[in-house]
Order: sequence, then structure tokens, then C-alpha cells
Amino acid sequence: AAKKITLGETRPEIVTLGKGDRATAGPDARGTRVMVFGRVHRERKQKGVAFITLRDGFGFMQVVLSGPLAQTYDAVTLTRETSMMIKGELWEVPTGAHAPNNREMHADYFEILGKAPGGDDAITNKVQAKGDAQTLLDQRHLVLRGETASSVMFVRDAVEHAFNCKYHELGYVKVSPPALVQTQVEGGSTLFGLDYYGEKAYLTQSSQLYLETAIPFAGNVYCIEKSFRAEKSLTRRHLSEYTHVEGELDFITFDDLLEHIEDMMCSVIEKVMAQPRIAAMIKELNPEFTVPERPFMRMRYTDAIDWLREHNIPNENDQPHEFGDDIAEAAERRMTDMINRPIFLTHFPAEIKSFYMPRDVDDPRVTESVDCLMPGVGEIVGGSMRIWKNDELMKGYAREGIDPAPYYWYTDQRKYGGSPHGGYGLGLERFLAWLCKQHTVRDTCLYPRYMGRCRP
Ligand code: 4AD
Repeated sequence: AAKKITLGETRPEIVTLGKGDRATAGPDARGTRVMVFGRVHRERKQKGVAFITLRDGFGFMQVVLSGPLAQTYDAVTLTRETSMMIKGELWEVPTGAHAPNNREMHADYFEILGKAPGGDDAITNKVQAKGDAQTLLDQRHLVLRGETASSVMFVRDAVEHAFNCKYHELGYVKVSPPALVQTQVEGGSTLFGLDYYGEKAYLTQSSQLYLETAIPFAGNVYCIEKSFRAEKSLTRRHLSEYTHVEGELDFITFDDLLEHIEDMMCSVIEKVMAQPRIAAMIKELNPEFTVPERPFMRMRYTDAIDWLREHNIPNENDQPHEFGDDIAEAAERRMTDMINRPIFLTHFPAEIKSFYMPRDVDDPRVTESVDCLMPGVGEIVGGSMRIWKNDELMKGYAREGIDPAPYYWYTDQRKYGGSPHGGYGLGLERFLAWLCKQHTVRDTCLYPRYMGRCRP
């Protein structure tokens, strides 16, 4: 009888058998017989022996087919990605040899379940064919089986889980705001409009406004939902659909907000790095990664403008930066890369920010707003305090040319017990691009959506 195990199973009684490796244990030694299922990740045939690296998502296992088993038609024609069942004994690998978890399976029986093609149709030809980015994106369903792409997905899962854990440790309540909405949050130019039973509706740009309506009953709240932006530029950090981690905190100051964002980001990284399998993947993807030092650098927008002028980094019109300029992606990234540590860039002018951001009491030209910038990626988090006085909010709507009527429920938060509150949104794909050192956010989601791509 063989015990069914996953390839990630590492309980010592199943794996090492207490007898050392097969070569030194003597001819009569027997290990526990196990049965495994998986797909052929790699295979190598040599002198009547076939070495298979089997993959099942839980882990990898080296399997050795030898003797008559290695001579069978199925073994001789074995291809990558073929799915199979194998029975045999698990042994430690001989000293000096290397295999996942330092063990290998000596097969005595196998069955092919789903044979994958070889030749022109072999997976290696599909995903390496031209090697260009578009081919790889067309074949994303196959690319995901590779070690790099799948590691990013495993890290992504761990990061999302760590956010949930940390929020719950802090006593935050998770809510699930709607994706179909009739209001804008971050400006009309990136709204995806749609026909909603004859009415105009949009795909949400951010769940923020809805989170604000949840704090009066739940206290601090968060959500991890999709946000949608009709971004008409093709950059390495813009998607049309992305995962937005958003938090909203009640009865706080702007400093409380910055400290919370820093604590969230660092705690999530610590939780993720505490998992050996995930930490090993991050090490492989981003060998130089170190947990950022706290506190993050704080820099006011006006100081950033001075810094950009001093370092001769021009604005989008190739002129020296002036107060009021939107710091463009290229300039922002150059600055972040040169400073080379996380930066909280704060107090942006009201004119370049959203309608809901309150002004700084000491300098009413600017708002209590923050972007968190990371080396290599740039902006990962955007947040602010929220206007909580009715008349100020009306001015905000007017400045942005927004009709307040559809926002009555948002405005009501100011009418029925307003409070100093604030929040933020973190782009999960950008956070992962930074953590996993990926060139583009297109590689940190399962199936990227951006202008010109809506498949697979
Ligand atoms: O700065 P943004 O637009 O802020 C908001 O949406 C706020 N309403 C969030 C809030 O306060 N609850 O977006 C927040 C973050 C950005 O820092 C970025 O990481 C990510 O969302 N983001 C995108 N990620 C991928 N593709 C896009 N097109 C993105 N747009 C924003």
C-alpha cells in the first residue's frame, strides 16, 4: 500500500525514514511507499535512468525511474507538463547530490494521466518561441506554470493574506464595496463607463467613498477589491484593472495616518518573510531585498520641487519644476531611485489632487495628502485626510466640476456626525513589483488588463 502525499509534504516520518540515503542504507532497507500526483516540470534521460522533477503546486519532487520502468514507451517519450501518478519509496539524496527538500523518489510504478505534446507544440516552444512580451502574454496561461511567474503568484497570495491578518490584528473590519458605481473618485478621465439598465454607471476607481460610509458603524475598516482605471497610457506601472488594498481610519490626525501606513507595509513584509517557502522565493526573485528601515523619509511636495530643481530634473514640458506641477512618473522615479529609500511625499497642492482632500491649516495652498514612493517602482500608496466639513466639501465638488447630487450619501457623512478621518489605497501589483523586483505590474497579476489587452 502506498500513502498518498503532496510534493510539499515534509513530515520527517514520511520523508527521511530514519535510514539515511538509499545508497548507504544497504540492499534490504525499505522506505515508506508513497503515491504522488503532479506534472512533469523538467525531465532528463540518461543511460537507462530518467530523472523527473514533478510539480503539484505544493512543491517539487525529484523522481528516479530506473531499470525496466525507464525502458517503457511512456518513459522514453515522456514530455514536460505531462500529468502522472507515481508510486515508490522516498529517500534522502546521496551526500553531495541536490534535489528539492533533499530527497528523491525511487519509482516502482507510474501511470500517465494526461500526456502533453512534444515537438513543435511542446510547452518550451510555446513560451520561449519568440520570447517577446506580447507572445508571453498571449501564452500567459502556460507561462504561469514556470518558476518565476508562479513564485510571484505565491508571494502575491502570501502578501494578500498578510494584509488580512494584520488588519484583523488591529481590529479592522473588512467590507466589500460595490464595483458598479455612479460616482467618480479620482477624476473623470479614467472612468470606464457602462450602460446600467439604461442609466449611466461606471466601474469603480476606488472603494474609498464607500469605506468612508462604513466607519460610522464599524470604526476602522478596509477592503481588498478590484479598482478600474481607463488609463490611456502604456506604462510599466499602469493597469486597467488592479487590486486595491484600501483602509479608512476614524478619529485620526495626518501623522497617525502616516504611521499606520508605514506599520502596515513593514508588518506585511515581516509576516511574509517569516514564511520560509515564500522568503526563499523572494530571495530568488529579488536577492538584494531588505526590509525597509523605519521611519520612512518624510518629504513635503514643496521640498521635492526644490530637490528636482537642484538636481536638474525637468518637468513634462522640459522646464524646471514649479510649485503646482504634477510631478510626472519619470521625474518621480528618478528622484526615488536617487534617494533610494521609501519616501512619504506629502502636502500636494489642492489643484492637482482630488476633491475630497482637506487643506493644511498652516499652508492652505496644499492638502493633507501623501504618496508613498518606493525605489524601482515609484508611487505605491496614495492617501489623505478627508474633508469632513460640509461647506468645504461643496467647494471641493465645485473646484472639480462635480455635480453633488449623486454624491448625497457621501455628503451625508458630514451631516450625520462628521469626524476627522483619513485613509489610503495601496496598489497590490505595484507593491509586488517592488517586493519581487519585477519590471512591470503586468507580471504581478494573474492575467493583466491594460489598454489593448483583455485576454486570455
Ligand atoms: O493614488 P490613487 O489614485 O488613490 C486612490 O484611488 C484613493 N482613492 C485611495 C484611497 O485613499 N482609498 O491610487 C492609489 C494606488 C496608487 O498609489 C497605485 O499604487 C495604485 O493605487 N494605482 C494603480 N495601480 C495599477 N494600475 C493603475 N492604473 C493604478 N492607479 C492607481
